[in-house]
Amino acid sequence: MSNPGKGIYDPAFVKELFDRCSKKYILFSYVCSMGFTERWRRQCVEALPKTPEPPQTCYDLMAGTGEIWPHLMRRYPDIQKVIAVDISSGMHQRALKRLHDMRADKIGFVEDDVLASDLPPSSADLIVSTFGLKTFNSAQHQKLAELTASTLKPGGAFCFIEASDPKGWWLRPLYIFYLKQVLPMVEKIFLKGARDFAMIGTYSTNFGDASNLADQLRAEGLEVTFRTHFFGCATSVSGRQPVA
Ligand SMILES: C[S@@+](CC[C@H](N)C(=O)[O-])C[C@H]1O[C@@H](n2cnc3c(N)ncnc32)[C@H](O)[C@@H]1O
Repeated sequence: MSNPGKGIYDPAFVKELFDRCSKKYILFSYVCSMGFTERWRRQCVEALPKTPEPPQTCYDLMAGTGEIWPHLMRRYPDIQKVIAVDISSGMHQRALKRLHDMRADKIGFVEDDVLASDLPPSSADLIVSTFGLKTFNSAQHQKLAELTASTLKPGGAFCFIEASDPKGWWLRPLYIFYLKQVLPMVEKIFLKGARDFAMIGTYSTNFGDASNLADQLRAEGLEVTFRTHFFGCATSVSGRQPVA
């Protein structure tokens, strides 16, 4: 599968970025989002529609350090396998360390560019992704929509959530100032001049929100619900593969 990512959307660029961020990722994402990322991960799992049978297999795409797994295990204590897909070996290593506290037997890893991976057709009861959409451009979202449609079993459910640009919210200027000015400054001071998390502001404003992906998923024949979270500071798309 060819990859349409270039510049800041080139998978090699994104991989290096997250390899460099991986050590500080969990703390930085929790503190700088003031706990919102954790709340949005929980809401992502809650938004998964009910499946016809209890789910056995879930793909966590752009899994990072596996922050969503506790929420998944809580809602689906009998799930057999959560397969994490991530391109960054740094994030992957951090996730492995976290497995000591988790049910490691239930977690599998695919270290790969998700858009170039060969996930078997109709193999997933669930697909989730938290904060993995913004480093894709629209052509890559189209590939993700195709992959989701081909990988979900009939009746299988998905939910993707991402930090978004809260257009129209009266506090948006303050939020954008925080993303584009305050976060980079905090990073520069506390992470010895690093400029990696500073990219979040650029990726988020370029991303906009998940409404375009919602349309792409609908065009692939999936049932889709689009939601905004906290005045549009995050947006999600959830839904399912129609039962054949
Ligand atoms: C912002 S982190 C999100 C991690 C995690 N899901 C969370 O909730 O915190 C984005 C993750 O997407 C991964 N990623 C980016 N592009 C990818 C790609 N093309 N294929 C697989 N993983 C990718 C990065 O390595 C990184 O771990």
